[in-house]
Amino acid sequence: MHLTIRQLQIVDAIVQLGNYSLAAERLHMTQPAVSMQMKKLEDDIGLILFERKGKRIVLSDVGSDIYQHSRQLTVAYDHLIEAMHEIKDSHKGRIKVAATTTSNHLITQMIACFSKQNKDMKVALKITNREKLIQQLQNFEPDIVLMGEPPPKLELVSEPLIPNPLLVIAHTNHPLAGKTGIPLKQIAEHEFVAREQGSGTRDAIELFFKKKGLILKSTLEMGSNEAIKHAVIAGLGLGLVSLHSIKLELEAKKLVILDVNQLPIKRYWHIVKRKDKKLLPAAKQFQNFIVREAQEYANSYDHFLKK
Ligand code: PGA
Repeated sequence: MHLTIRQLQIVDAIVQLGNYSLAAERLHMTQPAVSMQMKKLEDDIGLILFERKGKRIVLSDVGSDIYQHSRQLTVAYDHLIEAMHEIKDSHKGRIKVAATTTSNHLITQMIACFSKQNKDMKVALKITNREKLIQQLQNFEPDIVLMGEPPPKLELVSEPLIPNPLLVIAHTNHPLAGKTGIPLKQIAEHEFVAREQGSGTRDAIELFFKKKGLILKSTLEMGSNEAIKHAVIAGLGLGLVSLHSIKLELEAKKLVILDVNQLPIKRYWHIVKRKDKKLLPAAKQFQNFIVREAQEYANSYDHFLKK
Protein backbone atom coordinates (compact mmCIF):
# COMPACT_ATOMS: atom_id res chain seq x y z
CA MET A 1 0.00 0.00 0.00
CA HIS A 2 1.37 3.40 -0.93
CA LEU A 3 -0.20 6.03 1.27
CA THR A 4 0.70 9.70 0.90
CA ILE A 5 0.27 12.69 3.22
CA ARG A 6 -1.44 14.44 0.31
CA GLN A 7 -4.16 11.78 0.28
CA LEU A 8 -4.70 12.26 4.01
CA GLN A 9 -4.87 16.03 3.53
CA ILE A 10 -7.54 15.48 0.88
CA VAL A 11 -9.50 13.31 3.33
CA ASP A 12 -9.22 16.11 5.91
CA ALA A 13 -10.45 18.74 3.48
CA ILE A 14 -13.42 16.62 2.35
CA VAL A 15 -14.42 15.92 5.97
CA GLN A 16 -14.27 19.62 6.81
CA LEU A 17 -15.88 21.00 3.65
CA GLY A 18 -18.31 18.22 2.75
CA ASN A 19 -17.60 18.06 -0.96
CA TYR A 20 -14.89 17.32 -3.50
CA SER A 21 -14.89 20.61 -5.36
CA LEU A 22 -14.39 22.79 -2.24
CA ALA A 23 -11.70 20.37 -1.05
CA ALA A 24 -10.00 20.67 -4.45
CA GLU A 25 -10.18 24.46 -4.27
CA ARG A 26 -8.64 24.55 -0.79
CA LEU A 27 -5.77 22.29 -1.84
CA HIS A 28 -5.21 24.05 -5.19
CA MET A 29 -6.04 20.88 -7.09
CA THR A 30 -8.61 20.03 -9.73
CA GLN A 31 -11.73 18.14 -8.73
CA PRO A 32 -10.91 15.12 -10.97
CA ALA A 33 -7.47 14.92 -9.31
CA VAL A 34 -9.15 14.84 -5.88
CA SER A 35 -11.64 12.15 -6.99
CA MET A 36 -8.86 10.12 -8.51
CA GLN A 37 -6.72 10.25 -5.37
CA MET A 38 -9.69 9.19 -3.21
CA LYS A 39 -10.53 6.32 -5.55
CA LYS A 40 -6.91 5.20 -5.49
CA LEU A 41 -6.83 5.36 -1.68
CA GLU A 42 -10.09 3.42 -1.34
CA ASP A 43 -8.89 0.80 -3.85
CA ASP A 44 -5.55 0.46 -2.08
CA ILE A 45 -7.07 -0.14 1.34
CA GLY A 46 -10.11 -1.99 0.02
CA LEU A 47 -12.58 0.08 2.03
CA ILE A 48 -15.14 2.75 1.24
CA LEU A 49 -14.24 5.88 3.21
CA PHE A 50 -16.98 8.27 2.10
CA GLU A 51 -20.66 8.13 1.30
CA ARG A 52 -23.08 10.70 -0.06
CA LYS A 53 -25.73 12.18 2.29
CA GLY A 54 -27.91 14.52 0.22
CA LYS A 55 -25.55 17.12 -1.13
CA ARG A 56 -22.76 16.40 1.37
CA ILE A 57 -20.04 13.81 1.22
CA VAL A 58 -19.60 12.33 4.69
CA LEU A 59 -17.40 9.68 6.26
CA SER A 60 -18.71 6.12 6.27
CA ASP A 61 -18.59 4.25 9.59
CA VAL A 62 -15.31 2.61 8.72
CA GLY A 63 -14.10 5.94 7.29
CA SER A 64 -14.75 7.61 10.68
CA ASP A 65 -12.62 5.02 12.46
CA ILE A 66 -9.77 5.47 10.01
CA TYR A 67 -10.08 9.25 10.15
CA GLN A 68 -9.34 9.30 13.91
CA HIS A 69 -5.88 7.92 13.06
CA SER A 70 -5.23 9.78 9.84
CA ARG A 71 -6.05 13.11 11.53
CA GLN A 72 -3.23 12.54 14.01
CA LEU A 73 -0.82 12.18 11.11
CA THR A 74 -1.98 15.33 9.30
CA VAL A 75 -1.84 17.33 12.53
CA ALA A 76 1.67 16.03 13.22
CA TYR A 77 2.61 16.94 9.65
CA ASP A 78 1.28 20.50 10.15
CA HIS A 79 3.34 20.74 13.33
CA LEU A 80 6.40 19.62 11.45
CA ILE A 81 5.89 22.33 8.84
CA GLU A 82 5.27 24.93 11.57
CA ALA A 83 8.35 23.79 13.45
CA MET A 84 10.43 24.05 10.28
CA HIS A 85 9.21 27.62 9.74
CA GLU A 86 9.85 28.43 13.35
CA ILE A 87 13.36 27.01 13.28
CA LYS A 88 14.08 28.77 10.02
CA ASP A 89 13.25 32.08 11.56
CA SER A 90 13.40 31.37 15.25
CA HIS A 91 12.59 34.88 16.38
CA LYS A 92 9.34 35.11 14.49
CA GLY A 93 7.05 32.87 16.51
CA ARG A 94 3.42 32.36 15.66
CA ILE A 95 1.12 31.66 18.58
CA LYS A 96 -2.46 30.49 18.11
CA VAL A 97 -4.58 31.46 21.09
CA ALA A 98 -8.27 30.76 21.59
CA ALA A 99 -10.35 32.15 24.43
CA THR A 100 -13.93 32.18 25.59
CA THR A 101 -16.06 35.25 24.86
CA THR A 102 -16.16 36.11 28.54
CA SER A 103 -12.38 36.28 28.80
CA ASN A 104 -12.09 38.63 25.82
CA HIS A 105 -11.00 41.65 27.87
CA LEU A 106 -8.56 39.65 29.98
CA ILE A 107 -6.84 37.92 27.08
CA THR A 108 -6.72 41.05 24.92
CA GLN A 109 -5.00 42.99 27.71
CA MET A 110 -2.48 40.22 28.14
CA ILE A 111 -1.77 39.88 24.43
CA ALA A 112 -1.31 43.64 24.16
CA CYS A 113 1.24 43.58 26.97
CA PHE A 114 3.01 40.47 25.62
CA SER A 115 3.18 41.89 22.10
CA LYS A 116 4.76 45.11 23.33
CA GLN A 117 7.53 43.12 24.95
CA ASN A 118 7.90 40.61 22.09
CA LYS A 119 7.60 42.55 18.87
CA ASP A 120 8.92 39.65 16.82
CA MET A 121 6.10 37.30 17.82
CA LYS A 122 2.67 37.14 16.26
CA VAL A 123 -0.35 36.15 18.29
CA ALA A 124 -3.50 35.08 16.45
CA LEU A 125 -6.55 35.18 18.71
CA LYS A 126 -9.89 33.43 18.21
CA ILE A 127 -12.75 34.34 20.53
CA THR A 128 -15.78 32.11 20.81
CA ASN A 129 -18.02 30.47 23.40
CA ARG A 130 -17.09 27.42 25.46
CA GLU A 131 -18.82 24.88 23.24
CA LYS A 132 -17.08 26.04 20.05
CA LEU A 133 -13.78 26.35 21.90
CA ILE A 134 -13.99 22.70 22.89
CA GLN A 135 -14.52 21.80 19.22
CA GLN A 136 -11.40 23.80 18.33
CA LEU A 137 -9.44 21.93 20.98
CA GLN A 138 -10.73 18.61 19.59
CA ASN A 139 -9.49 19.69 16.14
CA PHE A 140 -6.01 20.57 17.47
CA GLU A 141 -6.46 24.18 16.34
CA PRO A 142 -5.16 26.43 19.17
CA ASP A 143 -1.80 26.18 20.93
CA ILE A 144 -3.10 27.78 24.10
CA VAL A 145 -6.62 28.24 25.39
CA LEU A 146 -8.02 30.51 28.07
CA MET A 147 -11.35 29.27 29.43
CA GLY A 148 -13.46 28.56 32.51
CA GLU A 149 -13.60 24.95 33.62
CA PRO A 150 -11.63 22.65 31.27
CA PRO A 151 -13.80 19.92 29.70
CA PRO A 152 -13.30 16.63 31.61
CA LYS A 153 -13.52 14.40 28.53
CA LEU A 154 -10.45 15.69 26.68
CA GLU A 155 -6.86 14.85 27.59
CA LEU A 156 -5.61 18.29 28.57
CA VAL A 157 -3.00 19.99 30.66
CA SER A 158 -4.64 22.83 32.54
CA GLU A 159 -3.67 25.24 35.25
CA PRO A 160 -6.02 27.43 37.30
CA LEU A 161 -4.97 31.06 36.89
CA ILE A 162 -7.13 33.54 38.77
CA PRO A 163 -10.68 33.68 40.18
CA ASN A 164 -13.44 34.56 37.73
CA PRO A 165 -16.28 35.89 39.91
CA LEU A 166 -19.78 35.99 38.40
CA LEU A 167 -21.96 38.84 39.67
CA VAL A 168 -25.38 40.33 39.15
CA ILE A 169 -25.39 43.62 37.25
CA ALA A 170 -28.15 46.18 36.88
CA HIS A 171 -28.56 49.61 35.34
CA THR A 172 -27.70 52.45 37.69
CA ASN A 173 -31.32 53.47 38.44
CA HIS A 174 -32.51 49.97 39.22
CA PRO A 175 -34.52 49.80 42.49
CA LEU A 176 -32.04 47.27 43.92
CA ALA A 177 -28.96 49.40 43.12
CA GLY A 178 -27.20 50.40 46.34
CA LYS A 179 -29.17 47.92 48.52
CA THR A 180 -27.07 45.57 50.64
CA GLY A 181 -27.50 41.88 51.44
CA ILE A 182 -30.18 41.19 48.79
CA PRO A 183 -31.41 37.59 49.31
CA LEU A 184 -30.62 35.20 46.44
CA LYS A 185 -34.27 34.13 46.37
CA GLN A 186 -35.36 37.71 45.80
CA ILE A 187 -32.94 38.16 42.92
CA ALA A 188 -34.30 34.98 41.29
CA GLU A 189 -37.73 36.65 41.06
CA HIS A 190 -36.34 39.21 38.58
CA GLU A 191 -36.07 38.82 34.82
CA PHE A 192 -32.54 38.12 33.52
CA VAL A 193 -30.85 38.59 30.17
CA ALA A 194 -29.03 35.28 29.63
CA ARG A 195 -26.16 34.04 27.45
CA GLU A 196 -26.76 31.60 24.57
CA GLN A 197 -26.70 27.78 24.82
CA GLY A 198 -23.08 26.65 24.66
CA SER A 199 -21.82 29.42 26.94
CA GLY A 200 -19.76 28.21 29.90
CA THR A 201 -21.01 31.11 32.01
CA ARG A 202 -24.59 30.12 31.34
CA ASP A 203 -23.91 26.49 32.33
CA ALA A 204 -22.23 27.62 35.56
CA ILE A 205 -25.11 29.93 36.48
CA GLU A 206 -27.75 27.26 35.79
CA LEU A 207 -25.85 24.74 37.89
CA PHE A 208 -25.37 27.19 40.77
CA PHE A 209 -29.09 28.11 40.96
CA LYS A 210 -30.16 24.48 40.52
CA LYS A 211 -28.06 23.54 43.55
CA LYS A 212 -29.85 26.26 45.51
CA GLY A 213 -33.24 24.92 44.38
CA LEU A 214 -33.90 28.05 42.29
CA ILE A 215 -34.45 28.70 38.59
CA LEU A 216 -33.42 31.95 36.98
CA LYS A 217 -36.03 33.51 34.71
CA SER A 218 -34.60 34.75 31.44
CA THR A 219 -36.57 36.93 29.08
CA LEU A 220 -33.89 37.46 26.51
CA GLU A 221 -31.01 35.38 25.24
CA MET A 222 -27.91 37.11 23.89
CA GLY A 223 -24.90 35.73 22.03
CA SER A 224 -22.29 37.80 23.87
CA ASN A 225 -21.52 39.66 27.07
CA GLU A 226 -21.46 42.90 25.08
CA ALA A 227 -25.08 42.35 24.05
CA ILE A 228 -26.05 41.49 27.64
CA LYS A 229 -24.48 44.70 28.92
CA HIS A 230 -26.33 46.80 26.34
CA ALA A 231 -29.60 45.10 27.28
CA VAL A 232 -29.02 45.65 31.00
CA ILE A 233 -28.09 49.30 30.46
CA ALA A 234 -31.29 49.66 28.41
CA GLY A 235 -33.26 48.32 31.39
CA LEU A 236 -34.30 45.04 29.76
CA GLY A 237 -33.42 42.98 32.83
CA LEU A 238 -30.61 42.01 35.16
CA GLY A 239 -27.45 40.24 33.99
CA LEU A 240 -25.18 37.68 35.64
CA VAL A 241 -21.73 38.07 34.16
CA SER A 242 -18.04 37.77 34.89
CA LEU A 243 -16.48 40.70 36.70
CA HIS A 244 -13.81 40.61 33.99
CA SER A 245 -16.29 41.51 31.27
CA ILE A 246 -17.64 44.75 32.77
CA LYS A 247 -14.65 46.93 33.65
CA LEU A 248 -15.31 49.73 31.17
CA GLU A 249 -19.02 49.98 32.05
CA LEU A 250 -18.28 50.06 35.79
CA GLU A 251 -15.68 52.78 35.31
CA ALA A 252 -18.08 54.78 33.14
CA LYS A 253 -20.77 54.21 35.82
CA LYS A 254 -23.19 52.76 33.29
CA LEU A 255 -23.76 49.61 35.33
CA VAL A 256 -23.71 48.66 38.99
CA ILE A 257 -22.95 45.39 40.74
CA LEU A 258 -25.79 44.31 43.05
CA ASP A 259 -24.85 43.17 46.53
CA VAL A 260 -26.53 39.74 46.55
CA ASN A 261 -26.08 37.20 49.36
CA GLN A 262 -24.14 34.03 48.38
CA LEU A 263 -22.68 35.77 45.33
CA PRO A 264 -20.34 36.01 43.49
CA ILE A 265 -20.45 32.56 41.92
CA LYS A 266 -16.85 31.45 42.30
CA ARG A 267 -15.20 30.21 39.13
CA TYR A 268 -11.61 30.11 37.86
CA TRP A 269 -9.90 30.99 34.63
CA HIS A 270 -7.73 28.17 33.35
CA ILE A 271 -4.91 28.13 30.88
CA VAL A 272 -5.26 24.95 28.89
CA LYS A 273 -3.52 22.98 26.15
CA ARG A 274 -3.90 19.53 24.69
CA LYS A 275 -1.72 16.92 26.38
CA ASP A 276 -0.54 15.66 23.01
CA LYS A 277 0.27 19.11 21.64
CA LYS A 278 3.92 20.06 21.91
CA LEU A 279 4.29 23.79 22.29
CA LEU A 280 6.89 25.53 20.19
CA PRO A 281 9.16 28.05 21.99
CA ALA A 282 7.03 31.11 21.23
CA ALA A 283 3.83 29.51 22.53
CA LYS A 284 5.65 28.27 25.60
CA GLN A 285 6.91 31.79 26.25
CA PHE A 286 3.37 33.14 25.92
CA GLN A 287 2.04 30.50 28.31
CA ASN A 288 4.66 31.42 30.93
CA PHE A 289 3.86 35.09 30.49
CA ILE A 290 0.14 34.52 31.12
CA VAL A 291 0.81 32.44 34.22
CA ARG A 292 3.19 35.14 35.54
CA GLU A 293 1.00 38.17 34.81
CA ALA A 294 -2.51 36.89 35.53
CA GLN A 295 -2.49 37.79 39.21
CA GLU A 296 -1.63 41.40 38.49
CA TYR A 297 -4.56 41.56 36.12
CA ALA A 298 -6.87 40.10 38.77
CA ASN A 299 -5.61 42.65 41.33
CA SER A 300 -6.64 45.50 39.06
CA TYR A 301 -10.27 44.43 39.68
CA ASP A 302 -10.09 44.16 43.45
CA HIS A 303 -11.44 47.64 44.12
CA PHE A 304 -14.72 46.83 42.33
CA LEU A 305 -15.39 44.11 44.90
CA LYS A 306 -14.50 46.12 47.98
CA LYS A 307 -17.62 47.22 49.76
P1 PGA B 1 -18.37 31.67 27.85
O1 PGA B 1 -17.07 31.25 28.65
O2 PGA B 1 -17.94 32.93 27.14
O3 PGA B 1 -18.64 30.52 26.95
O4 PGA B 1 -19.50 31.91 28.78
C1 PGA B 1 -16.86 31.13 29.97
C2 PGA B 1 -16.20 29.79 30.27
O5 PGA B 1 -15.24 29.39 29.63
O6 PGA B 1 -16.66 29.13 31.18
